[in-house]
Amino acid sequence: MSKLWGGRFTKQTDQLVEQYTASIAFDKAMAEEDIQGSLAHVTMLGKCGILPHDDVDTIKEGLHQVMKRIQSGDMNYSVSDEDIHMNIEKTLIDLIGPVGGKLHTGRSRNDQVATDMHLYLRKRVVTFAGLLVQLQEALLKQAKANLDTIVPGYTHLQRAQPILFAHHLMAYVSMFERDIERLTDSYKRINALPLGAGALAGTTFAIDRHFVAEELGFDRVYENSLDAVSDRDFIVEFLSNASLIMMHLSRLCEELVLWSSTEFQFVELDDAFCTGSSIMPQKKNPDVAELVRGKTGRVYGHLIGMLTVLKALPLAYNKDMQEDKEGMFDTVETLDGALRLFAPMVETMKVNRGRMRQAVRQDFSNATDIADFLVNKGMPFRQAHEVIGKTVLYCIEQNKYLLDLSLGEFQQFSPLFDDRIYEVLQPENVVNARNVYGGTASVQVEAAIRRAEQAIVRSNAWLTEKAAANSLK
Ligand code: ARG
Repeated sequence: MSKLWGGRFTKQTDQLVEQYTASIAFDKAMAEEDIQGSLAHVTMLGKCGILPHDDVDTIKEGLHQVMKRIQSGDMNYSVSDEDIHMNIEKTLIDLIGPVGGKLHTGRSRNDQVATDMHLYLRKRVVTFAGLLVQLQEALLKQAKANLDTIVPGYTHLQRAQPILFAHHLMAYVSMFERDIERLTDSYKRINALPLGAGALAGTTFAIDRHFVAEELGFDRVYENSLDAVSDRDFIVEFLSNASLIMMHLSRLCEELVLWSSTEFQFVELDDAFCTGSSIMPQKKNPDVAELVRGKTGRVYGHLIGMLTVLKALPLAYNKDMQEDKEGMFDTVETLDGALRLFAPMVETMKVNRGRMRQAVRQDFSNATDIADFLVNKGMPFRQAHEVIGKTVLYCIEQNKYLLDLSLGEFQQFSPLFDDRIYEVLQPENVVNARNVYGGTASVQVEAAIRRAEQAIVRSNAWLTEKAAANSLK
């Protein structure tokens, strides 16, 4: 059989054009979703009396056979059939004969491809939310094991104030919580059915879009047929959400790379998540963290690419929109790879508590606390800041830390100092003094951990519900 749309043509398609316009090389990734959509469509055609039940049964049986071929890797894809939709339809007709040609009644590839992408992305969004929960769990495990591990907190990558290492890790749990929220919120917009919009204007057949929506587990149908076939907001939204996730991962990557350097030695990544050098035998490189950091760039690129494809695109479908897929597939693959590696990498990471503790003792990250000490004695903060600045300068000149100074030395800078500053300056006390909601004091971090655990329970309930909605009928 020639082209499915060949009737109007008297000439063969130029071979280069065929190659250039075909999407089968990549849109075969949505083969299962395409069949899932077709099964619901043809069921509806039968229910509405548009096709006789015998034809519906034959077509469904044929679609199941095509699905088997796809799943067993026996499907023959051909570039001359352009895309996944026509490859499947052609194979169906080859298998069951001309009755297969009835499947496309009341449908266009325009509403079909949009439906496939909604089905495809919906499933992936659930997977990614699940992988983010696993990453949160790995971070929580490390946080719980490090509730008394004190580490310098940084601003400008300069030591600022000591914090619990658990508090630092919990910052990422919060970041990934926002990512989960964004994914679950986007699900509402992904979970709308375009099918039934036809090419752009609807269809002359008395179809039942709501029935198809129910069959496929969509919460609603698109309101406007033009919008249904030309909306790719949900892909932009996904790429944007994916960009934020990658950005968050890349920040953690950067910290892992720094922390595992000889200069820091705060953590050691497990051998299983590092690689060696072909020339320098001593090397253990944090390649996974570096590569996730590096791959963030391509995900941002796909976001900008998609926004640019859609910019100024007139309604409704335009072939430009075929460019929506490769970036989306690549983002799915990139995110999947990163998230699957990240949780075990974090979980198996060894935390060098001794080294962290030593770092906290050999810095001035407790300076704010003696300024606060003077403030509590009645000195205006600005003045206290100046006094402690001078004290620190003196320490640097004397090659000492604040805890090394005698009371006499302290009192050179202010008569308000007394014995209690040695208690105030202890890293544990510095940490626990920040007993404010969301702060680094142990009790606050413990409460944060409990709240995060409750959020995970809520996320898991959502995941269970959506996993059920996504299982193939
Ligand atoms: N492969 C096409 C795409 O991904 C499917 C829709 C084609 N529609 C059309 N009118 N040519 O966009």
